[in-house]
Amino acid sequence: MVWSILGGMADFDVTRFRSHFPALAEGAAHFDGPGGSQVPRSVASAVADTLCSAVANRGQNTAAERRADAIVLDARRAAADLVGGTPDGIVFGRSMTQLTYDLARTLAKDWGPGDEVVVTTLDHDANIRPWVQAAEARGATVRWADFDATTGELDVAAVTGLLSERTRVVAVTAASNLLGSRPDVPAITAAAREVGALSYVDGVHLTPHTLVDVGALGADFYACSPYKFFGPHLGFVAARPALLETLAPDKLAPSTNAVPERFELGTLPYELLAGTTAAVDFLAGITPDAESRRAALATAFDAVARHEEALMARLEDGLEAAGRVTLHGSRARRRTPTVLFSVDGLAPAEVHARLARRGVNAPAGTFYALECSRRLGLGDAGAVRAGIAPYTTEAEVNTLVEEIAGIAES
Ligand SMILES: Cc1ncc(COP(=O)(O)O)c(C=O)c1O
Repeated sequence: MVWSILGGMADFDVTRFRSHFPALAEGAAHFDGPGGSQVPRSVASAVADTLCSAVANRGQNTAAERRADAIVLDARRAAADLVGGTPDGIVFGRSMTQLTYDLARTLAKDWGPGDEVVVTTLDHDANIRPWVQAAEARGATVRWADFDATTGELDVAAVTGLLSERTRVVAVTAASNLLGSRPDVPAITAAAREVGALSYVDGVHLTPHTLVDVGALGADFYACSPYKFFGPHLGFVAARPALLETLAPDKLAPSTNAVPERFELGTLPYELLAGTTAAVDFLAGITPDAESRRAALATAFDAVARHEEALMARLEDGLEAAGRVTLHGSRARRRTPTVLFSVDGLAPAEVHARLARRGVNAPAGTFYALECSRRLGLGDAGAVRAGIAPYTTEAEVNTLVEEIAGIAES
């Protein structure tokens, strides 16, 4: 068990939590979670156990076929529990980027000149370029919603002001992977729905930090990547099965036309799906007294949020006090525990390299949020990003702050 429940509140024990992650024994302080988290032993075991078991293509005759089938169905249930979706609406793919390209091409099949798609400058390129290129291929128009570079926020009006009855898709992030800022997604998706447009929400950066409810977000499509929340490297999209039924992706002639399989090109990575289920179970902690996995996840995310918020406040206060440090977009009202900063007069890559020499992993760059970085005036070099994860300790935050203070003084 990962969590201990005391008086109805999950008591987060970071030392105990960390003991589940073999990689943390290497000693580095991992502020690189937004790029991909470390993996608990149970996830690695689920992947390895699947590879060491008899597995065939899905079917019901042999034990190997039944195992493959069960792995897929379990993973759909786990992913649906995590984001509040429907198992039959979970589409697995190699990555969020690949799934978004596939869905953009599919949705664009009936676009033409005069149709419009809305993208935002706050988004990761994976939720921009597939839409821009699909629109280009069909002669449709791209409308850009701009965020406020001072606050880091994307105002609802910046999106809604671009909507018309010709809008076909609104692509928006649930949280910026560069700044952590969280747009008001329910308001944006409601406005999209009102003009008859679909919403495609990038949940890659939000999902590790809060219990998502795709229904409450109003997202027609919600994309995320298990390798950001302790799972293996793959992606999934959650959508309503009835919506998926209306779409015709390019696919092989002999492959099933069933939903969601119709969208899953080729053979699924069974071992990674088993790892995804294990990651959700790890997050939930599977407390014996929880009434459901979803309920256990709610308790777990509450505990994680309290832990992360406390460390985030400490990190920002420390960096602000360090001098010669600029925090970017830190005034956004709602954020994930992700901090983007520069040390005045030093290239971000140099700061990253110096931290790495001290065992602190806080990389620098645009992290593919290229438009966002340019809009912030950080160009293609970006800045240094430090993400707090559930396994981050107060001592690690203190080390990062001290190292940055030292670098700023030198
Ligand atoms: C916000 C966001 N969206 C999309 C992606 C792309 O995800 P994937 O690597 O699964 O394609 C990332 C990856 O860093 C991300 O942070």
